[in-house]
Amino acid sequence: MVNVRIDGKEMLVPEGKTILEAAQTVGIDIPTLCFHKRLPPIGSCNMCIVEIQGRPEPVTSCNTLVEEGLDVTTTSDALHAQRIINLKKILHHHALDCPICDRAGECDLQNIVYRFGITDVPFEPRAQKRDNAYATSLIRYWPERCIMCRRCVTACNSIKGIGAIDIIGEGDDARLVPVAPDKCKSCGECLSVCPTGALTENLGRHKGRPWLEKRTKTTCGYCGCGCQLELSVLENRVIGVHTKTDDGVNQGSLCVKGRFGYEFIGDESRLKTPLIKENGQ
Ligand code: SF4
Ligand code: SF4
Ligand code: SF4
Ligand code: FES
Repeated sequence: MVNVRIDGKEMLVPEGKTILEAAQTVGIDIPTLCFHKRLPPIGSCNMCIVEIQGRPEPVTSCNTLVEEGLDVTTTSDALHAQRIINLKKILHHHALDCPICDRAGECDLQNIVYRFGITDVPFEPRAQKRDNAYATSLIRYWPERCIMCRRCVTACNSIKGIGAIDIIGEGDDARLVPVAPDKCKSCGECLSVCPTGALTENLGRHKGRPWLEKRTKTTCGYCGCGCQLELSVLENRVIGVHTKTDDGVNQGSLCVKGRFGYEFIGDESRLKTPLIKENGQ
């Protein structure tokens, strides 16, 4: 255990914890964007910066480990100003098309933009090549919404152990590409951790806004694993599947059937009464 001070609060923290984890245990809310609790720290967004007494520059708290005697400040005018600059850099290549975005209403980026009250960011599309963009028959990629946070790449590597996608290039040239498309299982792990509407379902026959849907918790019926999920229901029709990272044995993961195989539930040709065999037919 090590002694640290965060915003004046003295605490004992197990070695190996990050400053962000230590702060969260005592309810200190540090803004984050690329951080996801099921993923190893990525450190790409710079929203979680904090000041450490005696160090000349702020550090990212999601990937900086606690050390004996650290004195950390998570909120100051300088940090606030720098976080706004960092967020504006992210938004520079992000089309704020919330009115037509499937993720609006439950989007991490939308929430953090609202939190920081940013209204005036000129949008400039990336000068990236659009060929060879990532997509599957079940997942659609919207390049102009991608903030290159690497959550999807990290999830495909660290949760699925597959490595089907990667971000190549830097800055304006960065783009998400399928580096091993034949390995992709269309499991949707990447989609489920994406903090924006850059990855959406390709089914899309029935749409709904999160605030209009009813979410019903249930257990996936495809196999005996017992994965927990929530069905999105609108006008008595299942229009999507969601998961929570702290729920059930699956902790937010699903296979392709559990994530996308829900349209049969409302299919018109589905049997609604038992059939009786008559005259061998
Ligand atoms: S990804 Fe989020 S912030 Fe961007 S357009 Fe969609 S809802 Fe808005
Ligand atoms: S759908 Fe699954 S396998 Fe394919 S890129 Fe996404 S996480 Fe990887
Ligand atoms: S697709 Fe989503 S998760 Fe992947 S880099 Fe873009 S914004 Fe991040
Ligand atoms: S949350 Fe720490 S760098 Fe993104």
